[in-house]
Amino acid sequence: MTIRKVGVIGAGLMGSGIAQTCAQSGYETLVREVNQQFLDKGMTRIHGAWDMMASKGKITAGQVAENKARLHGTLDLADFADCDLVIEAIIENMEEKLRLFPALDAILRPNALILSNTSSLNVTQMGAVTKRADKVCGLHFFNPVPVMKLVEIIQTISTSKETIETVRQFATSLGKTPVLAKDTAGFIVNFLLIPYLLAAIRMLENGMASREDIDTAMKLGCGYPMGPLTLLDYVGLDTTLWAAEAIFEEYKEPLYAPPPLLRRMVLSGMTGRKSGKGFYDYSAS
Ligand code: 3HC
Repeated sequence: MTIRKVGVIGAGLMGSGIAQTCAQSGYETLVREVNQQFLDKGMTRIHGAWDMMASKGKITAGQVAENKARLHGTLDLADFADCDLVIEAIIENMEEKLRLFPALDAILRPNALILSNTSSLNVTQMGAVTKRADKVCGLHFFNPVPVMKLVEIIQTISTSKETIETVRQFATSLGKTPVLAKDTAGFIVNFLLIPYLLAAIRMLENGMASREDIDTAMKLGCGYPMGPLTLLDYVGLDTTLWAAEAIFEEYKEPLYAPPPLLRRMVLSGMTGRKSGKGFYDYSAS
C-alpha cells in the first residue's frame, strides 16, 4: 500500500512533532486540533522548528517553504477522508480515544490505516471499536519526535502482518528505526523507563539526595543525556503519571505505582517544562 497523505490528530507536543516529521519527510500532512488556539500553537511550533533548522543551515529556505506547503491544519475531522494513514496523538484518555476511533473509521477509506501514538494504553481496545481492527496498530514516537530515532510499532492480536509491514516501511521513510512490541502496557521503552523515573521521584521524596545530585549522578555516572528529573520535566509529569497508572493498572506491580509527590505536582499544575514549572523552574525561559 502506498502512503501519500498522512493525518495527525492532535497538535500538542507529540502531535506537532509527528506532523513536522511527516511533512519534512515528503508526506502531504493534515493536522487537526479541537480549537483554533491549539491549532495555531502547534503550527507555530512546527514552523519555528523549520526556521530554526534553516538558521542552522540544516535545511534551505526552499525546503522550509516546501515543508510549510505540505502541512495543513484543520478543525474538521471530515477533512481526513482522503488520508491513507492517520496517527492519533490526542490526550492519553481512553474514553476520548474510544470516541475518536469509530468516528475516524466512519470517515476514512476502507483501506486506510489508523495508528495510535499512545505510550501505554490498550491499542487492541481502540481497534475493537472500529470495523478495521486489522488495520489498527500503535506507532509510538519519542520526545522530541523530530530528533529521537526510535519508534515502537505495537501489534495487537488483530493487527494484520500487511499492516505491520506497511507501518514498518512508513516509519523507516520518516528516518526512524522501528522496533516491534506486543500490545502490553508500557510496550518496551516505558516498561523499562517508568520504574527508573518513579524511583528518582521516590529518592527525592525520601530526601536521599538533592534534585541536582540525582540528575548529575545519572548524567555523568551512566552517560544519559538528561538526568531523570530533567527528563520528567521534559516529557511532562502528567504524561508520566498517565503512563505509570496504565502500567500499574495492568500489572499491579508496585514499581509502577505513582509516588504521592508526582500525583500532587500534576494536581497543582506543575507538569514540567510546558507549564513553566516541574522539578525545576522554567518561568524565565
Ligand atoms: N526539529 C528539528 N530539530 C530539533 C528539534 C525539532 N523540533 N528540537 C531539537 N532539535 C535539534 C536541535 O536543533 C539540535 O541540533 P544540533 O545538535 O544539530 O544543533 C539537536 O536537536 C539537539 O537539541 P539541543 O541542542 O537543543 O539540545 P541537546 O543537545 O541538549 O539535546 C535532547 C536535547 C535531544 C532532548 C537530549 O537531551 C536527549 O536525548 N534527551 C533525552 C530525551 C529522551 O529520553 N526522550 C525520550 C523520552 S520518553 C518518551 O518520549 C516516551 C513517552 O511516551 C513518555
